[in-house]
Amino acid sequence: MTGLRPILVLNGPNLNMLGVREPHIYGHHTLGDVEDMCRERAAALGVEVTFGQSNYEGELVGMIQQARDGASGIVINPGAYTHTSVAIYDALKLAELPVIEVHLSNPHRREEFRHHSYISLVAEGIVAGFGARSFVMAIEGMVGYLRRQVPAGGPGD
Ligand code: DQA
Repeated sequence: MTGLRPILVLNGPNLNMLGVREPHIYGHHTLGDVEDMCRERAAALGVEVTFGQSNYEGELVGMIQQARDGASGIVINPGAYTHTSVAIYDALKLAELPVIEVHLSNPHRREEFRHHSYISLVAEGIVAGFGARSFVMAIEGMVGYLRRQVPAGGPGD
């Protein structure tokens, strides 16, 4: 392995219902399938991944706080909290870890209320619209970022 701490892959509300929930939007993969895909890709890249999911905002905040000293980066699909949660945004800021925001769907071609993300303000990158593959792409992006194979995108970097 690489000496990197594990990457935390965190999922928010209703993502435990993947496979059952609106499969025409979110696809047929279960959350277990997604986790297997992430684990497999991460192993091929020589990094570890850990997983968390909660339907509760405060629990997600707690998991992000714990990641501060235990993870090398956070790949997060905050579900509907993407569009509402200042608490998750604040937790991600205090974690001081690179964040990649993930969505299975492309929120920008959906309802207007999904167009704003608090999480994007703190994310190094965003992957959206590729179904379960979005997570795998986010793992690839995170590993590249952690190994400094790709630049951080923002001005002033
Ligand atoms: C989602 C998009 C959100 O708008 C929605 O509330 C979700 C899932 C996605 O993965 O496409 O729960 O984050």
